[in-house]
Amino acid sequence: MKTVSDLVAEGVSGRAVLVRSDLNVPLDGETITDDGRIRASVPTISTLADAGARVLVTAHLGRPKGGADPNYSLAPVAVRLGELLGKEVPLVPHGQRPELADGGVALLENIRFDPRETSKDDDQRAEFARELVDLVGADAAFVSDGFGVVHRKQASVYDVAQDLPAYAGGLVLSEVEVLKTLTGEPERPYAVVLGGSKVSDKLAVIEALLPKVDSLLVGGGMCFTFLAAQGYGVGSSLLESDQIDSSRKLLESGKIVLPTDVVIADRFAADAATKTVPVDAIEDGWMGLDIGPESVRAFAEVLSGAKTVFWNGPMGVFELAPFAEGTRGVAQAIVDSTASGAFSVVGGGDSAAAVRALGLPEDGFSHISTGGGASLEFLEGKSLPGVAVLER
Ligand code: 3PG
Repeated sequence: MKTVSDLVAEGVSGRAVLVRSDLNVPLDGETITDDGRIRASVPTISTLADAGARVLVTAHLGRPKGGADPNYSLAPVAVRLGELLGKEVPLVPHGQRPELADGGVALLENIRFDPRETSKDDDQRAEFARELVDLVGADAAFVSDGFGVVHRKQASVYDVAQDLPAYAGGLVLSEVEVLKTLTGEPERPYAVVLGGSKVSDKLAVIEALLPKVDSLLVGGGMCFTFLAAQGYGVGSSLLESDQIDSSRKLLESGKIVLPTDVVIADRFAADAATKTVPVDAIEDGWMGLDIGPESVRAFAEVLSGAKTVFWNGPMGVFELAPFAEGTRGVAQAIVDSTASGAFSVVGGGDSAAAVRALGLPEDGFSHISTGGGASLEFLEGKSLPGVAVLER
C-alpha cells in the first residue's frame, strides 16, 4: 500500500491532491461539540499543504436525504479546520471549481449532497468519482485518510481511488495498525466492553469477538435485551424483543458479564426521578438509563486484570449528568488498567466523544479510534472497501 509519505517523497509541490477525510462531527446547531475527528485529520492535510500541494478535502456530515440541506453544511467544519491549520479553508459549493493555491487547502461542501456518492449503482458512483477527478485534474493524487468511513463503498472513498494514484493517509495507516493488534494475538486476558443502544447493531461483532476474548462486559441500552434473555423484567427500558433468543445463545459462551445493578428513571430526562436498583427489581414504567455502582466495581475488577482492552459504546446516557457515572467509572477503570500496562483501544464516535465530554485524559488510553462502524467491521474481520482498494 502506498502512503502519504511516499507521495510527499515523490514531490507534491504544485500538484493537486484530493484528500478524503472523516469530518463527521457532532453539532449542536452550528456549534461543534466534539472536534476530535477534525483534529485527527489535520496531520495528513498539513503534511501535504506544507509540502506545497494544492489540497482539496472531501468529507461528509450526517446522512442528508436526497440533496443539499443547509442543516448538514460543512461550513462550521471549514472554519474549525482553518483554525487548526492556521489558514483559511474556503468551503467550495458543489458545481463550483475550487481555486487551489500551492500549499492551500479547500473543503468541498458535504459530499453526500450528491446522492451518487452513496449510490448502490456502480455506474452512478463511478460517474460522480470522475466529476471529482475533474475538479482536481487527471494528474492529481488521491489520499484516503477518513478511517471512519473506509467501511463504506462510496464514490469519494472507493471509486475515486480507482481513477487517481491512491495513497493511504497517516490516520488510516495508524488506525489499521492498532486494530490489527486486536485481530492478531492480543495479550491476554483480553477484555471487551460494549455499550450503545442496540444488540442488533453489535450482534455480528459480538459473535466474531466471543471466541477471541476472555470477557465481554455489556452495558448501555443493549444490556436490557440480555437481561430480558435471562428472564428479568426490564420495565420500559430499551428492549429488542426479536433479539432475545440470539442474546440467550450468546450468553451460553459464559464470557458475557452483565450489570447487576442499574440506575432507573421515571422518564428520559436530566431532571427525572431516579433510583439505583438490582437488575431483578426494575419497576414497570421505569427505564434503565445507566449501569449502577456495583456493576462498575465488577467491571473495573475484570478490567484491572486485563492486558488488552477494547471499548465501544457508552454504558448509559452519559450526555445527561444523572446517567453519566457508569460510563465515567468504566472509562476510568480502563485508564487505570492502561496505567498498569494494558493496551487499550477506544473505538467509536460515541465512546471517543464520551472520553472528551467527561473530561477523561485522552492520553490515558493507548489509542482512541476515529472510526465507529469502521473499527467494529474491522474487528468482525470484514474487508473494508476503502482499505482494500488501496491495497490493490
Ligand atoms: C461515522 O460517523 O461512523 C462515520 O463518519 C461514517 O458515517 P456513516 O455511518 O453515516 O457512513
